[in-house]
Amino acid sequence: MFNKRIKIKELLVQEPQNQVVTVMGWVRTFRNNQFIALNDGSANTNLQVVAELGKFDEELLKRLTTSAAIRATGVVVPSQGKGQIMELKADVIDILGDSDAEKYPLQPKKHSLEFLREKAHLRFRTNTFASIFRVRHTLAFAINKFFNEKGFTYLHTPIITASDAEGAGEMFKVTTLPLEGAPKNEDGSINFKEDFFGRATNLTVSGQLEAELGATALGEVYTFGPTFRAENSNTARHLAEFWMIEPEMAFYDLEDNANLAEEFIKYIIRYALENNREDLDFLANRQAEEEKQLPQDKRSEMGLIEKLEFVINNDFQRLTYTEAIDILTNSNHNKKKKFQYPITGWGMDLQSEHERYLVEKHFKKPVILMNYPASIKAFYMRLNEDGKTVAAMDILAPGMGEIVGGSQREERLDVLLQKMEAMHIPAEEMWWYLDIRRFGTVPHAGFGLGFERMVQFVTGMGNIRDVIAFPRTPKYADF
Ligand code: 4AD
Ligand code: MG
Repeated sequence: MFNKRIKIKELLVQEPQNQVVTVMGWVRTFRNNQFIALNDGSANTNLQVVAELGKFDEELLKRLTTSAAIRATGVVVPSQGKGQIMELKADVIDILGDSDAEKYPLQPKKHSLEFLREKAHLRFRTNTFASIFRVRHTLAFAINKFFNEKGFTYLHTPIITASDAEGAGEMFKVTTLPLEGAPKNEDGSINFKEDFFGRATNLTVSGQLEAELGATALGEVYTFGPTFRAENSNTARHLAEFWMIEPEMAFYDLEDNANLAEEFIKYIIRYALENNREDLDFLANRQAEEEKQLPQDKRSEMGLIEKLEFVINNDFQRLTYTEAIDILTNSNHNKKKKFQYPITGWGMDLQSEHERYLVEKHFKKPVILMNYPASIKAFYMRLNEDGKTVAAMDILAPGMGEIVGGSQREERLDVLLQKMEAMHIPAEEMWWYLDIRRFGTVPHAGFGLGFERMVQFVTGMGNIRDVIAFPRTPKYADF
């Protein structure tokens, strides 16, 4: 058996009392031909492994380069030096994998996030990225824990689908037909009957429609999976492939939906604060350091930890779209024409600068915006009594803008059919979705949380490409 080791995280919480242990990991630095800073990915903190002078071959010491993989066995003693409470006095050091210092792309110094994005295969080996991915893991775990405790059923919805759940047409096609010489119909269009699935298919933009089918039998379900959008958005908040959590609940109205979303967001943030404190403290420092480069008015008003604690300890601000338009119209920011996209009045779609104004300047807390004009929202949202708004909700977070989009769903068959027709959604193809309204229809609601935007919010990372291991964005799909 090879894996007889203790993880550094577990060792660091023990008392140093001459226990003999074996650790394995990657060398971060090797100082004074004596002190190895070893990291095994279990914690942000390195373990100091001491190779006492004269005890080891010169040949071996030369191979203790940055990122070399080693195994060390020795006794754990209180540290003489500053900066750590314990160290491992090595008796045996084995090199498991050499790392050529001349060729290793990362130096033991600070690299820019942009540079590290190009070295995404190695960036896990930096403190920043190791912390981000541990926090990402914790959030994913907390999400499953939250819904499990509430009695939701985890539903895996398909990745390949024939429907456009958002009706926005931003889909990647899935086909095995040749690009050239594809079989054609008489009218010149491509004959998808000849394709793998016998019809045109694409990568899913959302699992919602299938989740609705599950919820109207199982009661409460959630999905947590990859979704794909072929929108040409080159921003710090958009990915072409991102993960989404979509709970869907029978017997819920819009208010129930908002209550659940708020409780959910607070729960997972609290869980990360309780279980990833070392990583979050590290990331908080990183953000504070980074912001020192910025002019005063561009810096965050709160530190990362303070911000997260504020969010879990305060109610989200709830207001209607109509109220938001009033606030924006009457804002000094608008009067001084400081918005890039002017406020044109009721009916306009909100841009991220408007959302961020509401959250960061006006309310200074997360906001749940409800009841948007029907014309700017998806076909499945429930039409309100006024006949012009729908029971939609977006949750807007400080520094981010939209992190959640959701709604109460249209459960009335006739109203839904009318809306689909008006919005050119092919009702014949969606017979299965409509059947839910034909057989025991009930009020139901749900929402989608963009997982990477949540990870960004919790880690304080400015660019979404830094919170997913291998980002997919327009013109970029390396690794
Ligand atoms: O607002 P969206 O498009 O809503 C839906 O897809 C609904 N079917 C959800 C539901 O009601 N079940 O997307 C939901 C969230 C957004 O609020 C945002 O956080 C995230 O998904 N999102 C993206 N994240 C990263 N990159 C993109 N291109 C994203 N598009 C949406
Ligand atoms: Mg949305």
